[in-house]
Amino acid sequence: MKNLAVSVLLVLIGVAPFVSCQHRPDSKVAQERFGILPGGDTVVRYTLTNASGMRVRVLNYGGIIQSLEVPDRQGNLADVVLGFDSLDQYVRQSPYFGAIIGRFGNRIARGVFTLNDSVYHLYLNDGPNSLHGGQFGFDKKIWTVTPFATDTTEGLELHYLSPDGEENYPGNLDVHVTYTLDQHNALRIDYEATTDKPTIVNLTNHSYFNLNGGQGTVLRQELMLNADRYLPVDSTLIPTGELAPVAGTPMDFLKPTPVGARINADFAQLKLVKGGYDHCWVLNTRGDLGQVAASLYDPENGRFLQVYTTEPGVQFYSGNFLDGTLRGKQGHVYPMHGSVVLETEHYPDSPNQEEFPSTVLRPGDTYRSTTIFQFSVR
Ligand code: GLA
Repeated sequence: MKNLAVSVLLVLIGVAPFVSCQHRPDSKVAQERFGILPGGDTVVRYTLTNASGMRVRVLNYGGIIQSLEVPDRQGNLADVVLGFDSLDQYVRQSPYFGAIIGRFGNRIARGVFTLNDSVYHLYLNDGPNSLHGGQFGFDKKIWTVTPFATDTTEGLELHYLSPDGEENYPGNLDVHVTYTLDQHNALRIDYEATTDKPTIVNLTNHSYFNLNGGQGTVLRQELMLNADRYLPVDSTLIPTGELAPVAGTPMDFLKPTPVGARINADFAQLKLVKGGYDHCWVLNTRGDLGQVAASLYDPENGRFLQVYTTEPGVQFYSGNFLDGTLRGKQGHVYPMHGSVVLETEHYPDSPNQEEFPSTVLRPGDTYRSTTIFQFSVR
């Protein structure tokens, strides 16, 4: 009776009487040294595991998902994201493999945007445009990592304070990214950011998926994008502003379709730059985390990935710039179309396109975004 009274009292004052689902720091999350940066910082690799054997390895450098091992139909584990075995390669030549992207995912036209009558000029690292946060984006920063565990999950809380003016973006941006692995093979990523000056934010993760253990192309893997419309782009991959219907075009992935089925079709949007997909799809899910936004299936081994997100768009990039020159993990060479990147995010160039959902963050407001990568077999 006395215990019941204490529990009721604790509930009333807002303290859960059972703390088993709360984060516990200092958990058993394994960590090891991955390398040392040229400036002397030590890069640590953390390993999250669950009871089904799924294993996710994350670096404090760029918050990079360095490996992601999931079972196939037979229960054989394979690493389904591209990446490197050495830190040196991540520093020298990584095309954003597995990294957190910020402050602004994808392109900003001519690297210019205006906010509250001030004009900001960003670093141009993609022809005439600024891509993925500029010269030294979040993918190249050391994040403070705090491992945690609950009864059913293991996770990592990553923190980075981007100073006012970094890469010419306004405001001190305080960023938290949380990776959580559950017992049902879901990897959840929660993003949160606050600022002390009006600014723009568009965070995402840049994992390159290849469900065949990162080997060969993804042309036979079946992609579904829950989107009736996509954003056509100009020759520098900036959206034209039009939301075009996918119906009757090779951009229609409403039904699961092999990535390669129409990749060489005579369709102008697929001929830009190196050839292949590199566009943002306007998700039908409208921010509903309960509906599947995208999926990828490998009929050969049964691995199945479903993506859920609060974001309005997903940039599907078919690894067009991979060209067989990067020597990846376990000696694998990554060919053109060797992966599917699914960057859940706001639309590219939003700061310059008034019709697009806003990417402005103001002091007092909190940017929040969640994406779940759910793995299973079929
Ligand atoms: C994004 C872009 C691509 C390419 C990759 C990184 O997906 O849309 O054009 O820059 O990042 O190589």
